[in-house]
Amino acid sequence: MSDTPHTPPAFNLKNPCLARMKRAVKLSGEGSPKDTRHYEIDLRGSGMTYEPGDSLAVLPTNCPELVNDVLHALGATGDEPVKDATQREMTFREALTSSCNLATPDKKFLNAIVERSGNAPELAKLLDPARKDQLTQHLHGRELIDFLHEFPDAKFQPQEFVSFCKRLLIRLYSISSSLKAHPDSVHLTVAAVRYHTFGRDRKGVASTFLAERTVLNETVIPTFINAGKGFRLPSPDDDTPIIMCGPGTGIAPFRAFLQEREVTNAKGKAWLFFGEISAKTDFFYAEEWDEYLKKGVLTRLDTAFSRDQEKKIYVQHRMVEAAEELWKWLEEGAIFYVCGDASRMAADVDDALHTAIEKAGGKTREEAVEYVEEMRKSKRYRRDVY
Ligand SMILES: Cc1cc2nc3c(=O)[nH]c(=O)nc-3n(C[C@H](O)[C@H](O)[C@H](O)COP(=O)(O)OP(=O)(O)OC[C@H]3O[C@@H](n4cnc5c(N)ncnc54)[C@H](O)[C@@H]3O)c2cc1C
Ligand SMILES: NC(=O)c1ccc[n+]([C@@H]2O[C@H](COP(=O)([O-])OP(=O)(O)OC[C@H]3O[C@@H](n4cnc5c(N)ncnc54)[C@H](OP(=O)(O)O)[C@@H]3O)[C@@H](O)[C@H]2O)c1
Repeated sequence: MSDTPHTPPAFNLKNPCLARMKRAVKLSGEGSPKDTRHYEIDLRGSGMTYEPGDSLAVLPTNCPELVNDVLHALGATGDEPVKDATQREMTFREALTSSCNLATPDKKFLNAIVERSGNAPELAKLLDPARKDQLTQHLHGRELIDFLHEFPDAKFQPQEFVSFCKRLLIRLYSISSSLKAHPDSVHLTVAAVRYHTFGRDRKGVASTFLAERTVLNETVIPTFINAGKGFRLPSPDDDTPIIMCGPGTGIAPFRAFLQEREVTNAKGKAWLFFGEISAKTDFFYAEEWDEYLKKGVLTRLDTAFSRDQEKKIYVQHRMVEAAEELWKWLEEGAIFYVCGDASRMAADVDDALHTAIEKAGGKTREEAVEYVEEMRKSKRYRRDVY
């Protein structure tokens, strides 16, 4: 027998863990405009490990219908031999499926359209570096396929087309389980991205790869762990209170935190803010929170269902309503975590945190800013927003 200590395999982009999904459950109920799902990916025998606060990198494949549309627009069969960006030999179809970003056109591709088509003077103008903002606006909601359809006289050979594409990248998903509670799996909470622009139904690559193109126990999902850096629980024997603000899919890491705290018998108080569209259709993991409240793993739960009344109610409104209690927890040394939408929610929650401190702590805005800055410096304000 060897004395060498067991080193877990180092999975990364070049050497991903080839995992399979063993369970998928739709969390959004009948009538919800969203499609958010819970996934369990099998880690048995892989040696892959993770900590609460980590995210899972997923290397997706493109939708076969979109690949077919691109092949058709290019007049190709898909069987043509090509090399991808890493010089691996494969068929054109394989490259379009697993190597090429078919969403965002590269400037090289747009320039080639202008050079090859006799009908692209407007596009040529947009490619002037001085008109960067207009180009960005023009590209919003458009994908490569739109340019192939708009400029059919621009012809591309398969290898050329592959070299004009950006590379298909990994997507990150906050892990929603604790390995201590689920030693053989990693859980995710993912909202499927679907939208309609310029007369075409569009699909987010990775979220619909998981929702539509992954067959349980069959489809290979290349994955690896992306360490959560500062987004961590205090150590298990620590009784630091935690406040978690996770609307929508932002709930994911907090499910992992609570699972971990239950298994490690952590004594610290825990407060969760959750927000979604409607209590009836989008109260993700409601039964689990109930159990945690009963067991004392969760001390308090505040929910904000935005469309259950005429005027929108968001998590930040609940925070301000509970300002007195929030202030008390902060003064007891609580860590404040926020996860989810970066575009609007994170800034609004940040503002509400300041307002609560002003209101209940009897501080001026400047003093509240200093207080939050101090929380940040002492790592008591942690954000994982996307
Ligand atoms: C650290 C981290 C953790 C994350 N955790 C989670 C998580 O737990 N759960 C989760 O669901 N997501 C999470 N995400 C987001 C996730 O990584 C993906 O960005 C998300 O799933 C979309 O990826 P996709 O491949 O499906 O869509 P993509 O193919 O990347 O498409 C998304 C793009 O489509 C375009 N688009 C979308 N809607 C429209 C519209 N209406 N009009 C025009 N264009 C539009 C935008 O350009 C957008 O960027 C996380 C991200 C990070 C960085
Ligand atoms: N379009 C999609 O299908 C899709 C899918 C995946 C991810 N995403 C993007 O990924 C991010 C997270 O999406 P998600 O599905 O996790 O949920 P989300 O879009 O963040 O929505 C979750 C809840 O937050 C509410 N909300 C909206 N604006 C808010 C604000 N300023 N402050 C606080 N709460 C706010 C929403 O209410 P209302 O919606 O009622 O306003 C909803 O009740 C967002 O950037 C989203 O655009 C979008």
